[in-house]
Amino acid sequence: MRDFECIDNHMIIGGIRAADLAEEYGTPIFVTDEEAVRENYRAIYQAFSRRMPTRINYACKANSNLAILRILEQEGSCIDAVSIGEVEACLRAGFSPDRILYTGVNVSNHELAALVNRNVMINIDSMSELERLAEITSNANISFRMNPEVGAGYHEKVVTGARSTKFGIPKNKIIDAYARAIELDFCPVGLHAHIGAGVQDVKPFANVTDVLVSVAQELETKLGIQLDFIDIGGGIGIPYYPDEEPMDLELLADEVTSRISNGTSAKNVVLEPGRYIIGDTTVLLTTVVDLKETPDKWFAGVDAGFNTLVRPAFYGSYHHATVANKFELPGELTYDIVGPICETGDHLAKDRLLPRLEEGDVIAVYDAGAYGFSMSSQYNMRPKCREVLVRKGSSNLIRERESIDDLLRQDRIPSRLMI
Ligand code: LLP
Repeated sequence: MRDFECIDNHMIIGGIRAADLAEEYGTPIFVTDEEAVRENYRAIYQAFSRRMPTRINYACKANSNLAILRILEQEGSCIDAVSIGEVEACLRAGFSPDRILYTGVNVSNHELAALVNRNVMINIDSMSELERLAEITSNANISFRMNPEVGAGYHEKVVTGARSTKFGIPKNKIIDAYARAIELDFCPVGLHAHIGAGVQDVKPFANVTDVLVSVAQELETKLGIQLDFIDIGGGIGIPYYPDEEPMDLELLADEVTSRISNGTSAKNVVLEPGRYIIGDTTVLLTTVVDLKETPDKWFAGVDAGFNTLVRPAFYGSYHHATVANKFELPGELTYDIVGPICETGDHLAKDRLLPRLEEGDVIAVYDAGAYGFSMSSQYNMRPKCREVLVRKGSSNLIRERESIDDLLRQDRIPSRLMI
């Protein structure tokens, strides 16, 4: 969680009053501070690259807005992409294909062909995918995603590295996968695993690195393969609660790089952070439109619901919330902050002590940069909202609000229903 400047009881983001942004652009809006994105990227890149050659593949599923991708392209980041849509967005944002690694799951032949066509390297998830890729191409550089049997994460829905999940080549088949790749004339250059999301301790990353190192050693001794890279995936957590500590990047980098450089001849370490880079750079601003006192509690009704930020409803995630135009007023009443979606589970925050609210107040929901806009939907026929970038006192619109026409554009009414 970032600390925000306060002037005259107003929250300031990127040098601008949050309430002024809400007024200018309308709400709900996601507001991203460009300097914060650059700072986060540099922090993680520098912690690792001081120790060994490093490539950061930004997991753009967290936020694939073209302006955000441009910022990271300028910083020198590379990309972890999971769909042809993400690949296309990154190419349009100026990433060359060699800066993109595609890690899909249950990938169709159609998608494989599109990736080959665009010269994007594929991190293979299954033996089926390998054989199907061989029908399309050979001689290509590839890597493998293994299931490391090391899983971690803040919620069972986001633990990916455990043995029971659908992801990766099973640990007991991974050496065979490389042998088969060579038989098929591929050039396997990397080894990858991803443990899960929102991991706050260093230990699971050290554990998965141990597994990757031991596989890399076997690849060297049994098949004579010297890897170009070992990719430890993403999943580095960020503090969502005010009293949580951030990840100790220096310790993380020490634990990971010392294992790789002492145990293997792999040249590079690769990481795929999404949340760490973009999570705390963005607030969601939403206006209080309705206040309701019930026998049990106060509801603050706002104009963003789980169509805009699904994490609280879907994972029970905590996002800190403040009143942007009453930033330093003391808490007076406890509210549930709820949206316009017709479901009881539609909440952004529960039981929050806030200054007494009035209609028109602007609520800032923190740490909304990762899996905020990218998981938003048009449920209840509500258009997706605007995104705004701020930097040192100026602001730019980086995504226009959708219109009702946008929502209806793809629907078709068969002519027989028109009579
Ligand atoms: N690499 C792979 C293979 C992944 O599957 C993911 C995330 C990442 C990297 C990036 O993880 P990060 O560093 O952002 O934690 N929607 C959930 C998170 C799901 C993450 C899915 N995979 C949420 O809102 O918390």
